[in-house]
Amino acid sequence: TQLDLAIRGGTIVTASDEFRADIGIRDGRIVSIADRIEGAAREIDATGLLALPGGIDSHVHISQASGPDVVMADDFASATRSAAAGGNTMVLPFALQEKGTSLRTCVENYRKLAEGECYIDTAFHLIISDPTAVVLGQELPALVKDGYTSFKVFMTYDDLVLSDKQLLEVFEVARREEALVMVHCEGYDAIRFLTTKLEREGHIAPYYHGVSRPQAVEREATHRAISHAEVVGVPIMIVHVSGREAMEQVRWAQQRGLPVHAETCPQYITLTADDMKGLNMDITGAKYVCSPPPRDAASQQAIWEGITSGVFQTFSSDHCPFRYDDPKGKLTPNSRTSFRWVPNGIPGVETRLPILFSEGVSKGRISLQKFVELTATNHARIYGLYPRKGSIGVGFDADIVLWDPKLRKAIQQANLHHGADYTPWEGFDVTGWPVTTIARGRVVYEQGRIVGDKGGGEVLSRGKSSLI
Ligand code: URP
Ligand code: ZN
Ligand code: ZN
Ligand code: ZN
Repeated sequence: TQLDLAIRGGTIVTASDEFRADIGIRDGRIVSIADRIEGAAREIDATGLLALPGGIDSHVHISQASGPDVVMADDFASATRSAAAGGNTMVLPFALQEKGTSLRTCVENYRKLAEGECYIDTAFHLIISDPTAVVLGQELPALVKDGYTSFKVFMTYDDLVLSDKQLLEVFEVARREEALVMVHCEGYDAIRFLTTKLEREGHIAPYYHGVSRPQAVEREATHRAISHAEVVGVPIMIVHVSGREAMEQVRWAQQRGLPVHAETCPQYITLTADDMKGLNMDITGAKYVCSPPPRDAASQQAIWEGITSGVFQTFSSDHCPFRYDDPKGKLTPNSRTSFRWVPNGIPGVETRLPILFSEGVSKGRISLQKFVELTATNHARIYGLYPRKGSIGVGFDADIVLWDPKLRKAIQQANLHHGADYTPWEGFDVTGWPVTTIARGRVVYEQGRIVGDKGGGEVLSRGKSSLI
């Protein structure tokens, strides 16, 4: 039977290989890879381009409840549209349990928001904010069986923080049910202490958000999470590692043979604390407020060390978009009275791949294979999507991005597809850009335009992590 699509003339790159071949696609899957594939209903000429596994971004926040008067800038349509334009074919957002609420109900609510709205495939992690006996004993085990095989826990934030005992209890359920726990490592009490002290001294500008959560606070929590995981005997994923201090804790654990894994993000190789100063210690610094906060040049160097030496398995965006010029976004009615009230998070799902490609591959810091591993293959393995997703091979979903390694661009808000009204990388020059994004055989993005259909992406359930 005839092929639906052939991608011809490109160079295929996987986490281990690089070779010239055509790709044949039928019913959303890759069915052939060969020197010459002809006679498909549609052909795409990929001469001069790389054919990479579509990006999988395993850390994005979409339509997530963020407090009474704050609204996230992206819903599932705009976030997945933006992701596709950035060369991604799958994103993993979070279903947040609100305190006092059944986890199952929360998950079903997020699913409803996503169904029929997505341009590319999605799958949810859970966020556990209220680990009651029912959640730990009944809801979590049932949800893991239904394919929600990873959950995130927080060591800070008023509405999300878990006590050490609660962390241990969630870790124990993860061990028993063979799920993967992602940990947000920043120490709650130290942040509260420093925040109050800074405010008392009149240090209220967005810049002091970074001062209120120094590397020592992240390092301490990272060490504590590692120790608790060791006590329970469970693999963990430390998410959004920002600098040398936390990176060294992860490396220390790995060198002792503990199953500790880690993620880092574009902001930690490109932004610094000074960006939060804004124009003159003014509110424009709010555009860069995220947690953990961007550090300094030495920390960027340490993150590269961790990337190249294998401390980090995944490179995700932590896309968490808020509009800047909006009372329901960064500029809440109280944002000017203290950094405490500035919503945490920055948009980045569309710029993750160009930033890592440019800073990593184009500047000679990492190989193409390492790029693929960090942006697609490891996400699929670690979050239970392999071997359906994460590589280019016969039998895989036809999730492919055609990439121009030579194309030079300046990142500009005017050309992005997210719901935010700014990008932290305005004017940032990159070499390497996605040209065409193909998600399960459908062309969703081409020549700067979204051409796919809302609803073409599905909400998937996942298998067990490769780390278990
Ligand atoms: O500031 C950030 N990163 N907000 C998103 C939530 C999180 O902790 O990942
Ligand atoms: Zn986090
Ligand atoms: Zn590993
Ligand atoms: Zn996050």
